[in-house]
Amino acid sequence: MKSIEKKEYKNVRIKRKQFIKLLFTFLLIPFAYLWKSVSDKKIKDSSQNEKIIQIIDLPFGINFLDQVIVYKTENNLEIYSSKCTHLGCKINSAANDEIVCPCHGSRYSFNGEVIKGPSTKPLVKLSYKVDPQNNSIIIQI
Ligand code: FES
Repeated sequence: MKSIEKKEYKNVRIKRKQFIKLLFTFLLIPFAYLWKSVSDKKIKDSSQNEKIIQIIDLPFGINFLDQVIVYKTENNLEIYSSKCTHLGCKINSAANDEIVCPCHGSRYSFNGEVIKGPSTKPLVKLSYKVDPQNNSIIIQI
């Protein structure tokens, strides 16, 4: 009689171990799902934050392209965010060799430095990679 009880007790203990393993396995599933969805979003975000521009199409001088301002010279290429550093208005024009924000009139040089406020910070310079095969640049926005 005692040996039967002991055997049953041992079976229950094994079932508890299995239960705990199953519990941990089921707890890992939501974490794995969350991890996958976050990493997929990062991959999507990084590809959405790139802008590809054909360099050959751009004339020399200042170019306003949607989210970026490209200053192209014969030897150099500078790329800035088109967001004004004052309150974030989109900058899309130049006058008298100065980049002009339409909202409050901040003025920047073609090198992104503040000439006139209210903005106090220079335009945000963006990094880019040159793709010589396609004669284009890839900008991280
Ligand atoms: Fe450009 Fe204010 S947002 S000057």
